[in-house]
Amino acid sequence: MNSCRICAGPLDEFLDLGRQPLSDAFRLPNDTRDEFFFELRVGLCRSCTMVQLIDEVPREHMFHEDYPYHSSGSSAMREHFTGTARYLLDTELRGPDAFAVELGCNDGVMLRTISEAGVRHLGVEPSGGVARLARGKGIRVRTAFFEEETARDIAATEGRADVVYAANTLCHIPYLDSVFRGLDAVLKPTGVFVFEDPYLGDIVDRTAFDQIYDEHYYFFTARSVRDLARRHGFELVDVRRLPVHGGEVRYTLARAGQREPSPAVAELLAEERTRRLHELDTLRSFASRVETVRADLVALLERLRAEGSRVVAYGATAKSATVTNFCGIGTELIPFVCDTTPAKQGRLTPGAHIPVRESAEFAAPYPDYALLFAWNHAAEIMSNERDFRASGGKWILYVPDVHIV
Ligand code: SAH
Ligand code: TYD
Ligand code: ZN
Repeated sequence: MNSCRICAGPLDEFLDLGRQPLSDAFRLPNDTRDEFFFELRVGLCRSCTMVQLIDEVPREHMFHEDYPYHSSGSSAMREHFTGTARYLLDTELRGPDAFAVELGCNDGVMLRTISEAGVRHLGVEPSGGVARLARGKGIRVRTAFFEEETARDIAATEGRADVVYAANTLCHIPYLDSVFRGLDAVLKPTGVFVFEDPYLGDIVDRTAFDQIYDEHYYFFTARSVRDLARRHGFELVDVRRLPVHGGEVRYTLARAGQREPSPAVAELLAEERTRRLHELDTLRSFASRVETVRADLVALLERLRAEGSRVVAYGATAKSATVTNFCGIGTELIPFVCDTTPAKQGRLTPGAHIPVRESAEFAAPYPDYALLFAWNHAAEIMSNERDFRASGGKWILYVPDVHIV
């Protein structure tokens, strides 16, 4: 039996998404090297309730010089992170020599506002290319993986932080024991750790199985985060649901006994209990809905092909690697996918090898249908591409089920 990465308890596997490539490894068309594959399986810990991947991909395979995800690529996300920075400035960073550390600052989408406010900060970002983009915005960044050693070094050279923040990053880090020892070293006694990640409750509600891929190692809940924090001398003192990326939760941890937990913590814990979020039956029925989505999506794409309709995809997301490789969707069903990210254009999607083209090609001419892989940015993309629908085009979505709009 597999064991939990947090507490070594027994893991019950409830979903197997098969053999998968690295979700952000977009290949050049002439690249003949073997692709890396691993088994994408998910389990629930019987003891501490943490939902997690069963197989771990070495971190250097995923986060390196050419990591192609740029956080500033969505205007809605830029706004979200400007708001987050203002919130941190107004709450945790009001002291005279306040210091903020961000894990996984990427291209500086959040720290930009902190830096412009003249507040002392440091980003910790292992992916060299995006770290350089952040430095270009005047942000201080250390190219490193955050772990105990990095944290001790930061504390020794820069002093301790009032807040450590991480968005869509903590769930990427299997080695949380080292991260928590690092947090203990780098946070002031009154400091807090604030992080936000996709919420298991929303993933289950929306059958959003494409949130599961190599980089997303943990799927947090209030319950599993409360237990994780306790193991390391911290306490879950606040939770807030966020609408971004298809549903996330922002968790605030303080050292045990430092802050009074907000009522929102008990409320979310109670909700998770009522809906039996940590029970194997609930997760097994999610897995069976995933099978239905796969069957419905493949059937729809095959029917449209048989009818002679033209279908392309929109958004070469990391998430879409799970969809194409789990459903067996290749260029016979989707000839190309449009994406605004220069580092992805001219390349092939991992595993499925669907060409990525610039978004200008979407309109040349418009297809009959567009499969929206970046469904978490639906409002922004549908608004930017409103001429597509005006010209008679239709969007295909597969969250929470397969439907056409
Ligand atoms: N915070 C941004 C980026 C999320 S992508 C946003 O929400 O849009 C996840 C980022 O975490 C990547 O840029 C990756 O390089 C970084 N990362 C991965 N492991 C890390 C670690 N151990 N410490 C710090 N950053 C890490
Ligand atoms: P996203 O869903 O944020 O993340 P992940 O890769 O982790 O699943 O990725 C959005 C992708 O969609 C990214 O490659 C940029 C692209 N995109 C567009 O092409 N056009 C747009 O208007 C937006 C908002 C994103
Ligand atoms: Zn466990």
